[in-house]
Amino acid sequence: TGLVTYDGGFVNTASTKSAITFIDGEEGILRYRGYPIEQLADQGSFLETSYLLINGELPNATQLEDFRTEITKHTLLHEDVKRFYDGFPRDAHPMAMLSSVVSALSTFYQDSHDPFDEEQVHISTIRLLAKLPTIAAYAFKKSVGQALLYPDNSLDYVQNFLRMTFAVPSEEYKADPVIVSALDKLLILHADHEQNCSTSTVRMVGSSHANLFASVSAGINALWGPLHGGANQSVLEMLDAIKADGGDVDAFVRKVKNREDGVRLMGFGHRVYKSFDPRAQIIKKAADDVLSRLGKRDELLDIALRLEEVALSDDYFVSRKLYPNVDFYTGLIYRAMGFPTSMFTVLFALGRLPGWIAHWREMIADPASKIGRPRQVYTGIPIRDYVPLGAR
Ligand code: CMC
Repeated sequence: TGLVTYDGGFVNTASTKSAITFIDGEEGILRYRGYPIEQLADQGSFLETSYLLINGELPNATQLEDFRTEITKHTLLHEDVKRFYDGFPRDAHPMAMLSSVVSALSTFYQDSHDPFDEEQVHISTIRLLAKLPTIAAYAFKKSVGQALLYPDNSLDYVQNFLRMTFAVPSEEYKADPVIVSALDKLLILHADHEQNCSTSTVRMVGSSHANLFASVSAGINALWGPLHGGANQSVLEMLDAIKADGGDVDAFVRKVKNREDGVRLMGFGHRVYKSFDPRAQIIKKAADDVLSRLGKRDELLDIALRLEEVALSDDYFVSRKLYPNVDFYTGLIYRAMGFPTSMFTVLFALGRLPGWIAHWREMIADPASKIGRPRQVYTGIPIRDYVPLGAR
């Protein structure tokens, strides 16, 4: 094993070739299939972006309509899948419910187990895209003790999700168009990010030829951690804690710099972006816009803005090239939309789903792809003799 190179955290190791997403971390560039993220966020829709990531090209009008129609047909959950929610404790974290139910889809769809059967991969792709919003909305409904609502297929993707989440049977519900368009944009911004922790997990699990549901369920669990998608929840908790402590941003930054209790400035820093995160720039503007249009100008937004200002003029953060990332401002928007903190990472998962699917499919379609099986540098005892139990 003399040829093994150690690269903890895969800082410099490319695990795959990929034609899906391009990132230049020095320049703050992000492109899906060659299209700049700024253009897609500004002019595209989430379903169009999903189609682009998965199929490689933007759909024409007919292709998009067919895609939308097919997804719409599959938004229902089997009644037996719904019974899972009866079994979950009411205070279960929605991310745990999300990954469990996605994993359980493999038990309901026997025609999902062969990754090399194109029909199976197609229908599993559609089912996942169609059902994840329903699964996510039901996780929320469970946590607030409300009835699970059937999807309304006259609505578009985001409206349907918002209705299943926030409507109650006895009242009229119409999603606020400001919220619909902001959420659609946020989903686009989260839709792919090349070999991040969750996508690498989806690829790793899929590399053993496990099915798409099993692989995506693993990706959801990887996303949950606070260093990855779970950061959006942690940011809001951090802002809340600063507020509860009297709003002293400088004191908090000092704590981070002194590494007291291992505190980090959540929503800051990125493995790849070293000048700015282009997603964060778009989101910061959206946060300001959405919060003022919803009339929900938030004290936490002021804390976040001050925190950013203090950090960006402090040598600790500047010298380490730590900038706000995608998660720094999203929580404030999600909160203004009415989502509880525990749902934030679920929204990230809804956005990242097409990326996970695209990467899994790219890997399966590549005849050169191999099972993911890293090596290690062994640091244990080289050899010793067995000692019988009585002699230990
Ligand atoms: N606050 C304070 N110090 C930090 C932070 C932070 N948020 N991030 C990195 N550092 C320091 C770190 O202590 C280290 O300092 P030193 O060299 O003196 O020991 C240096 O910066 C490099 O950090 P690292 O941990 O080696 O960097 P990494 O590339 O392994 O980690 C990261 C990247 C995103 C996990 C990390 O920056 C972090 O923990 N950020 C906070 C969590 C977060 O916001 N995550 C969301 C990431 S973006 C979206 C997503 O992936 O979901």
